[in-house]
Amino acid sequence: MTADARTLGWLTRALQHEFAAVQQYLAQATLARMSGYPDWAERLQAEAMEELAHAQRLMQRLIELGVAPCAGALPPARLGRGVADFPALNRQLEQAAVVLYQDAADHARRVRDPATEVLMRELAQEEAQHFGAWQQDATPTH
Ligand SMILES: [Fe+2]
Ligand SMILES: [Fe+2]
Repeated sequence: MTADARTLGWLTRALQHEFAAVQQYLAQATLARMSGYPDWAERLQAEAMEELAHAQRLMQRLIELGVAPCAGALPPARLGRGVADFPALNRQLEQAAVVLYQDAADHARRVRDPATEVLMRELAQEEAQHFGAWQQDATPTH
């Protein structure tokens, strides 16, 4: 199929978001381990792997549309002043992802691209779950 240029733009923006999320969660996992929070490190590492899987699903859609994935430059990982700041930072990250995926899904619907729309709605739902999980973990413990 011929790919809609703005759909490719949304997919690429989403791919950049996912790699930025991988970078942030891996950096936080590293800092958590260095700071003596091994449980947090493990959980953050697992989050990074989930976001990596999201990146791969977006890559598959880009490749189906005939485009080589290119995430571009990533924003810096946000570490705040340490582990106590991670939940708030990660709620911001996940909230931004939900908005991005909802807008991307709406665009896909407008251009009648159901495969992309389904992918974007699924990812919006998963990011909403990530957001919810960070609301429940406000206080890190050693
Ligand atoms: Fe994600
Ligand atoms: Fe996420």
